[in-house]
Amino acid sequence: MALFSLPTFFLSLAVVLISSHSSSIDTFVYGGCTQQTYEPNSPYESNLNSLLTSLVNSATFSSYNNFTIMGSTPQDVIYGLYQCRGDLSVPDCSTCVASSVSQLGTLCSRACGGAVQLQGCYVKYDNTTFLGVEDTSVVLKKCGPSVGYDGETMGVRDTVMASLLSGGGLYRVSGAEEVQGVAQCVGDLSGEECQDCLSEAIKRLKSDCGVAVYGDMYLGKCYARYSTKGSPSNSQAQNDNSSNGAQKAFAIVIGLLAGVALLIIFLTFLRRFCEEPEANNLVAI
Ligand SMILES: *[C@@H]1O[C@H](CO)[C@@H](O)[C@H](O)[C@H]1NC(C)=O
Ligand SMILES: *[C@@H]1O[C@H](CO)[C@@H](O)[C@H](O)[C@H]1NC(C)=O
Repeated sequence: MALFSLPTFFLSLAVVLISSHSSSIDTFVYGGCTQQTYEPNSPYESNLNSLLTSLVNSATFSSYNNFTIMGSTPQDVIYGLYQCRGDLSVPDCSTCVASSVSQLGTLCSRACGGAVQLQGCYVKYDNTTFLGVEDTSVVLKKCGPSVGYDGETMGVRDTVMASLLSGGGLYRVSGAEEVQGVAQCVGDLSGEECQDCLSEAIKRLKSDCGVAVYGDMYLGKCYARYSTKGSPSNSQAQNDNSSNGAQKAFAIVIGLLAGVALLIIFLTFLRRFCEEPEANNLVAI
């Protein structure tokens, strides 16, 4: 039986790798940190740790929350929030926030403030308050290639954008013909502020991305995106040749792992048969 643990390990490793890869929820979109740093082992650090723990815990039951950790001195106050994409299940939201917090730890180690946007969620903390403050500055803009002007598709794009704008709520999806659109506000905005933020994002998407086959416009507190059929929905994956290469290498590694696992299983059977032909406990597996 013990001989089976190795191939089982390889197989489950492959499954974990495949599932974490195929779900784009954890895919990094952007991140940033403040220049100011805190002292290690300071009250700020322990407040930051309790904030991040609160965020991760809260994401196990809610798709948005904010926290303010009061320090013993005003300098140690820390604010934070997270927002999951509106279509995520609670377990996916919780996984995403945990992943964001762990990526923030690497990206913004010692920084007083930091933010990270993954495909499925957004996490931000800082020692100056930003809770409930609208922020329409452009954080990330990505436009796909403009493959010749297609007036009809762009007309549909504009229709989809208009319906995103007229839809209510923090999370909005819309689609028509070839075009899919999605928009999300962070939960600390009022309905009116969300509307205002999305209207800015959509205006910029149309003006900056022109006739591009897809566009992503991430502002401080909201984003709007569109993609056309046939264009990559996960723009990051196909935009970047190195990640294509990485995907191929990944597929090869998985193939090799599966091959090795099968070989080990086969050899194990063979060995059991040769050494202990009476061992019929194999059948029970
Ligand atoms: C944030 O922290 C930095 C570094 O500790 C400090 O210089 C700054 O004054 C703090 N800001 C506030 C609003 O407390
Ligand atoms: C922050 O969280 C508190 C408690 O959950 C809530 O009452 C408040 O409205 C939230 N503030 C913002 C700006 O979202």
